Amino acid sequence: MINKPRGHGQRLLPFPCPRPCLRYPMPHETQHHYDVLVIGSGAAGLSLALNLPASLSVAVLAKSLSAEGSTLYAQGGVAAVLDADDSVESHIEDTLNAGAGLCHPDAVRYTVEHSRDAIEWLIAQGVAFTGDEGHDQRNDYHLTREGGHSHRRVIHAADATGRAIEVSLIDRSRARDNITLFDNHIAVDLITSAKLGLGGNRVLGVYVLDRTKGKVEVYRSRTVVLATGGASKVYLYTSNPDISTGDGIAMAWRAGCRVANMEFNQFHPTCLYHPKAKSFLITEAVRGEGGRLLLPDGSRFMQRFDPRGELAPRDIVARAIDHEIKRLGVECLYLDISHRPADFIREHFPTVYARCLEFGIDITREPIPVVPAAHYTCGGVMVDLNGRTDINGLYAAGEVTFTGLHGANRLASNSLLECLVFGRAAAMDIAARLPELPPVAPLPAWDESRVTDSDEEVVVAHNWEELRRFMWDYVGIVRTDKRLQRAKRRVDLLGGEIDEYYGNFRVTNDLLELRNLVQVADLIIRSAMARKESRGLHYTLDYPDTAPGEPHDTILMPDNSPL
Ligand code: FAD
Ligand code: SIN
Repeated sequence: MINKPRGHGQRLLPFPCPRPCLRYPMPHETQHHYDVLVIGSGAAGLSLALNLPASLSVAVLAKSLSAEGSTLYAQGGVAAVLDADDSVESHIEDTLNAGAGLCHPDAVRYTVEHSRDAIEWLIAQGVAFTGDEGHDQRNDYHLTREGGHSHRRVIHAADATGRAIEVSLIDRSRARDNITLFDNHIAVDLITSAKLGLGGNRVLGVYVLDRTKGKVEVYRSRTVVLATGGASKVYLYTSNPDISTGDGIAMAWRAGCRVANMEFNQFHPTCLYHPKAKSFLITEAVRGEGGRLLLPDGSRFMQRFDPRGELAPRDIVARAIDHEIKRLGVECLYLDISHRPADFIREHFPTVYARCLEFGIDITREPIPVVPAAHYTCGGVMVDLNGRTDINGLYAAGEVTFTGLHGANRLASNSLLECLVFGRAAAMDIAARLPELPPVAPLPAWDESRVTDSDEEVVVAHNWEELRRFMWDYVGIVRTDKRLQRAKRRVDLLGGEIDEYYGNFRVTNDLLELRNLVQVADLIIRSAMARKESRGLHYTLDYPDTAPGEPHDTILMPDNSPL
């Protein structure tokens, strides 16, 4: 299905919409210049950078500290076919089942077939996965279980897998002479030949706000990679860190790339419920190792919703919890692992144990209060199996993308795997194609001569809050046509206000993120409105059944698409 967009953010205004910018650089003004500019330093961006030949100059941008991002907080692990009793076919089947008819079989096969290589590569980068000593010692490494997986196949570093990966990849990147990491540099927008009116369809660089200097600079580059992560901060309650504001999706859309399946927002069933706990996840591996979901009266309920009980795929568990919370009129439900030995719990879940203890909850003795929260963006910028987008020289990898792997619902622990497999594939393609892409000549500088400092920062703060609340209330776990229409009216209003604000005031980190979130919210709402059925993560009371016939992706194409 192709939906031509309407509404804000899709106008073909002179570059860079809507801010006027036709000033060429003065001789003293520096323009950074690289072979490859990677926007994002999570698992996708860093694995891509490390897989590039050392002869290429590579810049990796992070909008806060380099380590900060969803990767750092990943708990459960990475799904891969590692056990002798497991098979590629079985992992593929589980992925397809979770994806509810929308996975692209080529992307699933490609990812799963490269899963073992991805893990071996991580081990070679120094990632210390938890060994199998003290368990049944069938493998060198302990494999845990998560929802939707028919085998134990999730390799992990206790419950802090993401930290182990991120720290190793950052150390390796810092040790490489050809890679430069830039902290506190937020990409504002892509610079393309089409936007400059030069004809063709090639990415030429990026405008980047150096947050410490408060100055927007030009980064020219022969290729640009979006590895900016997901957009779950569009919701009021999320497991994600603050950086997940969908910047890459919004930038790609503004530059003319198609995006797909934005209606599929994954809600993780179990985030800690505590007034002072900001976005803390209780890993699905807790359920994989026997954790039970309980109602306030201590009874189990998941069997009523799915024969797989606590280990049903995430969409089913999250909806079941949401349903019970609303039915009973309670604030949260409970996850209990206290029937397992205390030593086992502390060894397997040291992070969860310590964090809960900070809030006075001893998980070896009592259940954990939990609620669902926005966790993962299944849709994103459309890429092929080499990570190529619709724009020449522009690649994307990781949660920012739509590869076709996840379909209507991502299988647990397939995300880090996707970052690694597609990060490597894109690196190989870039290395092979770079000779075709000549160096980029100087580009127009960012012009601030007609803007001033904002006199009303409160507008940005207020709109952030409003956006995230109505997205939670109207575009959340359970949707209706009426709720989506309400959300659409509000996002249109916010879009107009933010465009005006962006055109008149000096850019700040918060303003840029809000602008991107509003854009992404609009894409989510329009995609959700277009899907007249319930499937996977998209559940609507107006169309509670899955539509018969051939399943389809929701593909949105911007007016300035080069296709
Ligand atoms: P991220 O790791 O989010 O990195 C994004 C990077 O982009 C950051 O460096 C950020 O600074 C940068 N960036 C963003 N916008 C800009 C901009 N405008 N300019 C410059 N830089 C920018 N998946 C699994 O497979 N297994 C798990 O166990 C698991 N557990 C999870 C637990 C939690 C709490 C969360 C939140 C997610 C979890 N996931 C898990 C999902 C997985 O961690 C993410 O999908 C994955 O890490 C995304 O990696 P990424 O490289 O695409 O993005
Ligand atoms: C978790 O540990 O529950 C998160 C796993 C994932 O998001 O894949």
